[in-house]
Amino acid sequence: MGRVAVASAPAKAILFGEHFVVYGKPAIAMALNRRVRATSTINDRGEVRVRSSLGSSTIPLESIDDTQLYEHDPHRHIVFAVANVMRLLNRYAGVDILLESDFPYGMGLGASAATSTATIASIASIFGAEMSKDEVFRLSVEAERLVHKNPSGIDSAVCTYGGLLLFKDGMIERLDRKGYSPLDQCQGQGQGLQFVVVSSGMVKDTGSMVMKVKSRGESNREEFASLAEMSEAITVQALYAIRCNDLARIGELLTLNHGLLKRLGVSNDTLDAIVYEALRNGAYGAKLTGAGGGGCIISLVDGSRGKVLLNALSRYEAFISGIEDDGVIIEG
Ligand code: MEV
Repeated sequence: MGRVAVASAPAKAILFGEHFVVYGKPAIAMALNRRVRATSTINDRGEVRVRSSLGSSTIPLESIDDTQLYEHDPHRHIVFAVANVMRLLNRYAGVDILLESDFPYGMGLGASAATSTATIASIASIFGAEMSKDEVFRLSVEAERLVHKNPSGIDSAVCTYGGLLLFKDGMIERLDRKGYSPLDQCQGQGQGLQFVVVSSGMVKDTGSMVMKVKSRGESNREEFASLAEMSEAITVQALYAIRCNDLARIGELLTLNHGLLKRLGVSNDTLDAIVYEALRNGAYGAKLTGAGGGGCIISLVDGSRGKVLLNALSRYEAFISGIEDDGVIIEG
C-alpha cells in the first residue's frame, strides 16, 4: 500500500443570517460534533479515485484540470480541490480518497465544505506539505464555487476553523475564543450553547435554493432589501444575546429568524412542523439551518431538555451538539 494521510473536518450549522450572508450581511455559524474523514492513499494507477456513500468516481490524473469532463460527477468538487492542491504544491500522483461521514449529505450540515476541507488537508499532508488553515479555507471556497456558483464561504470557514464564528464579507471572527484578556467580557462567548439538530429527511440542493433566493430578490428588490435588513438586525441582536448567555433571547431570535426564512420562501411544511414541535417540547427557539428546502432544523435547549426533545422527535434522525472546538485536523 502507498503512503496514507487522514484528515477530518466538522459539520456546521448556521445559527443566524443564512442566504443574506451571500449578499454581504453578517451571519453566525458553529461547528458541530459530527465529522467527515478523508483518507488519502497514493496509488500507482495514475488516477484520482474518490469513494463515499454517494458512490465511486475515477478520473485519470492527466484529466483532473478538465472540469468539464467531470461536471456531473457527485465528487466533482473533491476532484477539483485535489487538482488545485497538486497544482499549488507542484506535486502530482495517483491517489485514492475515501470519504467517511458520521452525518448525512445534502442535509444543510455542510457536507460539501467538510469533505473538501478534509480532502485538501489530507492531500497536502500526503505530500508532506504544511498547509495553513487560511490556504485550506481559500481552496475549499474555490471548490464550493464549482458546486454552487456564489458561495459566501461561511460553510468552508466553519469546517476549516471550527468553533462559533461571526462571518461577514469574508471577514471571520471566532466568537468562542475572542479576547484573551481576563478583562474582556467577550471571552468564551457561546461556549455552553447546546442544540438538538433534527433532520427532515428531505435532501436539499444548496445551489438551487441560492438561485431561487436570487431570482426572488430580483423580482422584488424592495422586499428583499427589507428582509436583508431584518436578518442583519436579528444577527446583531443575537451577538449581544450570545455575549450575555441569554438563552431565552437567543431562542426567541432563532425562531424569529425562521419566520424570516419562511417569508423568503426557503422553508416548507415539514420544516415548519418540526420547528413547531421543538418549541412545543420546551426548546428556547428553533429554525431551519442552511439553504432550506429540506435539510435540518436546529433547536436551542438546556441540560435535560435535549433528551426530552430527542424522545419527542424520535421519528426523525436527530442528535445533540454543543460547539465543536476543532476545525479541520490532520489525524495521521
Ligand atoms: C448554505 O449553508 C448557506 C447559504 O447562505 C449559502 C452560502 O452562504 O453560501 C444558503
